[in-house]
Amino acid sequence: MKKYILALDQGTTSSRAILFDHQGRIAGCAAQEYPQHYPRPGWVEHDPNDIWNSQITVARKVLQDNHVDARQVQAIGIANQRETTLVWDRKSGEPIAPAIVWQDRRTADLCERLRADGKAGMIAERTGLELDAYFSATKLKWLLDHVPGARERARHGALAFGTIDSWLAWKLCGAHVTDVSNASRTMLFNIHLMRWDADLLQLFDIPEQLLPQVVSSSEEIGVTRANWFGAAIPVAGIAGDQQAATFGQACHSPGMVKNTYGTGCFMLMHVGKQPAVSRHRLLSTVGWRVDGRTEYLLEGGVFMGGATVQWLRDGLGIIKRSSDVEALASSVPDSGGVLLVPAFAGLGAPHWDPYARGALLGLTRGSGAGHIARAAVESIAYQSAELLEAMQRDVAASHRAIPLAEVRADGGAARNDLLMQFQADLLGVPVLRPRVTETTALGAAHLAGLAVGYWESREEIAAQWQCERRFDPAMGADQRQSLLARWGRAVERAKAWDA
Ligand code: G3P
Repeated sequence: MKKYILALDQGTTSSRAILFDHQGRIAGCAAQEYPQHYPRPGWVEHDPNDIWNSQITVARKVLQDNHVDARQVQAIGIANQRETTLVWDRKSGEPIAPAIVWQDRRTADLCERLRADGKAGMIAERTGLELDAYFSATKLKWLLDHVPGARERARHGALAFGTIDSWLAWKLCGAHVTDVSNASRTMLFNIHLMRWDADLLQLFDIPEQLLPQVVSSSEEIGVTRANWFGAAIPVAGIAGDQQAATFGQACHSPGMVKNTYGTGCFMLMHVGKQPAVSRHRLLSTVGWRVDGRTEYLLEGGVFMGGATVQWLRDGLGIIKRSSDVEALASSVPDSGGVLLVPAFAGLGAPHWDPYARGALLGLTRGSGAGHIARAAVESIAYQSAELLEAMQRDVAASHRAIPLAEVRADGGAARNDLLMQFQADLLGVPVLRPRVTETTALGAAHLAGLAVGYWESREEIAAQWQCERRFDPAMGADQRQSLLARWGRAVERAKAWDA
């Protein structure tokens, strides 16, 4: 009987389920989108029941469509949108309110107040995170402050808090757990001591009884209730989606980097067994704990990655489909000096400027749609190059000799060859695109498969990683530096525009 690992990839806009075989190849895939709710400006919510229903539906569907019996599934791995916060009643299992999505900005004022109170330093030191509404702590506080009676019920142990991994684990097998990678995104978890931080719980007024038990990223946490699949399947791997993708890209040793080119871009670098302290406002985060060993990552996010291309399509209307951007951008030999700083929603790491706004610079009478499209594609690479530069500086400042050999790319926009080549040119290191680009699901599968002995070792899974195409840098160092300097000037102009 052929055996598989089932990966659940619960993302911000869709739930996916992917079956992997022993060679790490995709044996089946099912996906379903679910509704987004924007009840007020800056608010983003999900119905936790939509998340669960879509996730269990695709999990069952992928087995059915591919004629795989539940007994053939050796384990389930979970990868999830991170930071999204929900609270449910332990008895009824019903959420007490909609989940507050990571993109939701309703607690930005609270973060400002905490910053004014001088709390940012202590928070960064303990959690590795920037004091920002992005993370779970202020969202959880908001729920306890606004849902009548919630804090009291929490104190009596009647409620459970979790990120989406916790919610799925609870639904699948009744366990109230979160893994170390997800815990590290709550802003309540001390990444040095690897436990919930009592001072932070006090600062945010969070009763400890609410919190899930923190588990490893690769261990059996329970088995699925028989009614879900008709057989009990061990749930044996959990990681936040970006950490899972880093694992799925086999970035197992210090200096290895992956960049996901999605709506936004998430770049993560493996930094070893100690967290790196960032001096450039990157996030220092837990990658995973496997075999009792914790490994850490540095992370930087770009808000407008593929979304910049969507703007060309929906805002400017100069392309019909996102995939048309490569042809339009390739219709000109270069951007003709045009630069687009897509700070439509402010700037993320390393700038963290919520008041920056988009800027289109260097236009001349000869500039056309091709130049703007090319500038849009290039902006994705420029922003990622800034992240990598900041990472390398952080690592150098920590006196660690971590060599950078290459960047592994995935996500939708990684299919754009023009972007990949320009990225390699700007970084000065090769950019490699793997055969399996479903790296998030693959990482979750790897973590679960290792725990149940489906795969023997990390060496075995790393050896399965295969390059589909490699982009070597072809630009001289002088040109690279002058382009980056010009980009830096453009970013300065976009900053603090709406302050
Ligand atoms: O931190 C947020 C991130 O985990 C969301 O990822 O792929 O669901 O947009 P994604």
